[in-house]
Amino acid sequence: MKKVLKLLALAFVGLLLVACGKSEESSTAESGSGKTYQVGVAIYKFDDNFMTLYREELDSYFKKLSEETGDTYVLDIQDGKQDQATQTEQINTFIAQGKDVILANLVDPTAAGSIINSAKAADIPVVLINREPEVAELEIWPGKTTYVGADATQSGTFQGEIIAATDSKGDINGDGTVSYITLFGDPANVDAQQRTTYSVKALDDAGIKREALAEPYLANWDTAKGQEVTAAALEQFGDKLEVIFANNDGMAVGAVTAIKAAGRTVGKDILVVGVDAIPDAMELLAKGELTGTVLNDHFNQSHTAAQVAVKLMNGEDVSPYYWVDYVKVTSEADSELKEAEAKTETIEEIKERYAKRSAE
Ligand code: BGC
Repeated sequence: MKKVLKLLALAFVGLLLVACGKSEESSTAESGSGKTYQVGVAIYKFDDNFMTLYREELDSYFKKLSEETGDTYVLDIQDGKQDQATQTEQINTFIAQGKDVILANLVDPTAAGSIINSAKAADIPVVLINREPEVAELEIWPGKTTYVGADATQSGTFQGEIIAATDSKGDINGDGTVSYITLFGDPANVDAQQRTTYSVKALDDAGIKREALAEPYLANWDTAKGQEVTAAALEQFGDKLEVIFANNDGMAVGAVTAIKAAGRTVGKDILVVGVDAIPDAMELLAKGELTGTVLNDHFNQSHTAAQVAVKLMNGEDVSPYYWVDYVKVTSEADSELKEAEAKTETIEEIKERYAKRSAE
């Protein structure tokens, strides 16, 4: 009996060896290189719903790429704790360590220029993500720096269109005007600025009269803050408040909590629309407690950022802009994540587009 067991054990070890040898063989055969790359990732802060989805997807996608190609991507992901000085130090450390590429979700996008200059001096390419810098920053080191993101104007437009497509068109009390407030993310962030402008511009474009009951409330993308400012607005404006545009779902979720606490009902006497399609928002949407949201596609943004980083690590030049589309979400099915190719844009194209936009 003992002998049989021993034989079985030996056979098992043999099988394992064959299996290991095989996978190693096939992976190196595919890539032909089996190199190890060091990837520095600077996130503006870990404690952010959307950037957590993004960061986790980025991490697992690089793991998938490692398995598929036989090259190894070692990620060093740092938490900038929403402090640019801390993040600049982390990026300087990446540079001193000689990382092969840096992916940066900047705390303050105006820091892009100095960061790109430091990275350029050390010949380390930079992929900026999520927080769009000025066009001029991407002209510093063409081919070796890029922005991978989503066009924030599109998300704002979609928010307004979602409201315009409801039965009441946002005018719940039927007085001919949509009375609204906006929950504002962060003044340094293009996403917050564009969503604020373009959400209500979409109402104008649909011929809907509107009135802002207050200046946008600064709520830092944050749920608790979104709840707090909405509670205050409900107290101040009562039933007059018909629509809440939240620059992101985190704040929209907070707004819904405040609405329920004030005894009002989303859909019936007030409308709320966010951006991101995070799980908490999708849960509310399924219960009819959120009017709509806009998918901020972390899945394709992170995959594109990783693919572009790999190209840069292989010495290739890349486009200055990669854009992933937003998606309007009013049902569970709308938020489904599917592989999509990012659109690219040159510096000339973006300058032309932005000039047209500001002339509008
Ligand atoms: C997202 C927000 C997030 C922010 C971080 C935005 O695109 O919509 O939820 O807090 O990025 O920069």
